Parts: sequence; C-alpha cells; structure tokens
Amino acid sequence: MSEITPQCEYIPGLSNIPAAQSSISHVDGQRGILEYRGISIQELAQKSTFLETAYLLIWGHLPSQAELEAFERDIRYHRRLKYRIRDMMKCFPETGHPMDALQTAAASLGLFHSRRVLDDEAYIRRAVIRLLAKVPTMVAAFELIRRGNNPITPDDDLDYAANFLYMLTEREPKPIAARVFDTCLTLHAEHTMNTSTFSALVTASTLTDPYGVIASAVGTLAGPLHGGAAEESLNMLTEIGSVNNVRPYVDACIQNQRNIMGFGHRVYKVKDPRATILQSLAEQLFEELGYDPYYDIALELEKVVEEKLGFKGVHANVDFYSGLVYRALGIPRDLFTPMFAIARVAGWLAHWKEQLAANRIFRPTQIYAGSHEVPYISIDQREKSLTT
Ligand code: ACO
Repeated sequence: MSEITPQCEYIPGLSNIPAAQSSISHVDGQRGILEYRGISIQELAQKSTFLETAYLLIWGHLPSQAELEAFERDIRYHRRLKYRIRDMMKCFPETGHPMDALQTAAASLGLFHSRRVLDDEAYIRRAVIRLLAKVPTMVAAFELIRRGNNPITPDDDLDYAANFLYMLTEREPKPIAARVFDTCLTLHAEHTMNTSTFSALVTASTLTDPYGVIASAVGTLAGPLHGGAAEESLNMLTEIGSVNNVRPYVDACIQNQRNIMGFGHRVYKVKDPRATILQSLAEQLFEELGYDPYYDIALELEKVVEEKLGFKGVHANVDFYSGLVYRALGIPRDLFTPMFAIARVAGWLAHWKEQLAANRIFRPTQIYAGSHEVPYISIDQREKSLTT
C-alpha cells in the first residue's frame, strides 16, 4: 500500500486562492459594490452602452468619441459570418444545446484566422473586434437554423443590441427592448475571477489563439453550476405557479435543504447590485410591453426568502430577475446562458489581454494519492490474481 505524502495544503476548487493580479473589476460582497475599472456598475448601467463598457474593460479607459466611433464601426463591419461557418452550423443537430453550438462555432474562427501574433496590438484589436462582432451572430444563426430557417444577415443600420434582437426574432425591436437588452449585456460583461474567466486564462496561458480561449470559456460557462441559474430561476417560477404557493415552496426547500435558484452568492452577502438594476429594467419592460404575472410570484418569493434566509446572507442574485427580463424580450429559455456568453466575451477578452502582458503558463501541482512500485501482471494472470 502506498502512503499519501502531502507537500502543501490541498484546497478543493481552489477556493479563495488568487489566480491573477487584475485591475479590471472589483466586487465588495458585504457592501454590494461592483466596479468595472473603478466605475460603479450603477453608473455604467445608466450612462454607458455595452460596447463602450467593453472598450473600457479591454483597454482600461473610457474611449474618446473618435475611438468609440471607430470601435463601433469596425464591429458593425465584422458581424457577418463566413458562409462556410453558416453551412457548418446548418449541420449541427437542432436538438443540441445552443451553448455547444456557440462553443463549436467560436472555436471554428481559429481555423479561418490561424495567424497568431500575440505581441501585436493590431492583431489583438482585430481578434477583439471579430469575437465581439461574431458571437451574437452565431447565437442568432443557430436559433434560426434550429427553427428550420436560414440565418438572417445583420442589419448595418442597427446598433449592437438592436441588431442582435433583430437577427434573433426577425423583427426590428422596440427601442425600449434594445436599450434594456444593451444594459443586460453591460451588467453581465465582467465579474472578477470566476470559473469561465479562469478557464479562459488557463487556455490563454499556453499562448494559443484567442478563439480557442473564448471557446474554452464558453464550454465552462455552459455548466449548470455556473451560467445556468437564470434559466433555472424561471423554471422555478413556473413550478411555483402562483403567489399562494410561494411560502410552502420556500418551506419545503428549507426543510429538504434544497437551494432556491436565483438566491445566494459566494461573494455577495447583500442583494446583488445587478439584481436591483435588473428588477428595475424588468419593471420598465412590463410598463411598455405588458405585465408578466410571474413578477408577482417573484416579488413574493424575494420577500419570503428575505424573511427566512436573509439572516444567512442569502439574497437575490443577478440570475433572479434576468430570466424575467429575457422572457419579456421573447428570448427562449435555453438561450439565457448564451446571452450571458455574448456579454461575458468582453470580460474574457479583457482578462486575456491583461494576462498577455505578463503571461506565465498555468501549471499547478497535485497531491499524489495513488500507489507506488506496483508489479505488472501479465494478462493471462490477471483474473487469477483478482480472485486470489
Ligand atoms: N437557497 C437556500 N439556502 C441557501 C441558498 C439558496 N439559494 N444559497 C445559500 N444558502 C444557504 C446555504 O445552504 C448555507 O446554509 P448553512 O449555513 O445553514 O449551511 C448558507 O446559506 C450560506 O451559503 P454559502 O455557503 O455562503 O453559499 P455558497 O457560497 O456555498 O453557494 C451558491 C453559493 C452556489 C451561488 C448558492 O447560493 C446557490 O446554489 N444558489 C442557487 C443557484 C444560483 O442562483 N446560482 C447563481 C449564482 S450567481 C452566478 O453564478 C452568476
């Protein structure tokens, strides 16, 4: 028998181990503060746009008018997909998950743009433009393809958010819908070191191409422990069904030690600031596009959870109200995680660019817990040795 020889402490999930030194975003979970490059999320949600925020995250400063115009123009110009990518996506099974479709399509960009010059600012800018421009087109294309339609061409007259909703629904969205969706993208653009960002950085640390980096992050975000909670929150509201069922539902969850989706957070111990903004966005949408009775259930649920679990630091998180916003925008439930991915491309790219400036390959260690000096048993002797 072997012995386990610990050389250092093993921390499952690398919990609380810093994986980078970063100046991109900051969270204060006790005070409910989220800042991108030092600017509060409330201010950005109110005054900025997603593309301006993406620029801020990636280049570290708010763009000048000329910089923003050039950035938006270049993204508009690169939104289209090559016909071979569209044809490839037409071969995907329509029952497949949109996150798998996105991961595959994003990785395929590396086949078309295989030149890699990671120390060239112009190359980095082109990759940023291409990914921010094409990821939404990929998500919309898969949605149309799986409904049996051809993807539609991006509309050069529409801005980033409006064009995405247009490509998804084949109708030009109302201005309020485009504005709210744009704010949702800003809110989801970045959130310090998290699992998909870490995944992006591990891949990036090998100096592979940025398309592989983003594909890794999309694959990581796809899992239910990371990106899937908005969809689960809405499923839960469907399951609860009416305001009267809220209290018994919460009681049953507490009794059976089942977590209530859209509540609780590893970092925030007060209400997630993004949840507060999303709630107000949902209310604006209900006023303009029609009321959603699920909102009554959501309000009651938040009240009861506050009453029963607030003392433990369990409050609404970003995913609780984002499902209601996406539902009001007519976005199908299994596209909620791809919405998250479209936004988070900005944060992943910001971390990619930051790491390139001082890269060191991630190569952690392990604590070996296996055997040593085990004799090789020839195949004709194995069954015998197992029975003796
Ligand atoms: N419902 C009920 N109880 C909860 C919940 C919840 N959603 N979240 C935490 N708690 C309880 C825990 O059981 C624990 O109770 P205990 O002290 O009696 O054992 C206590 O509150 C403290 O919880 P933590 O240990 O601090 O929570 P942790 O950091 O382990 O988990 C997590 C955070 C995974 C997000 C959890 O809250 C959860 O599963 N929430 C539901 C899923 C969800 O909404 N995920 C999205 C998070 S936001 C994002 O990823 C973008």
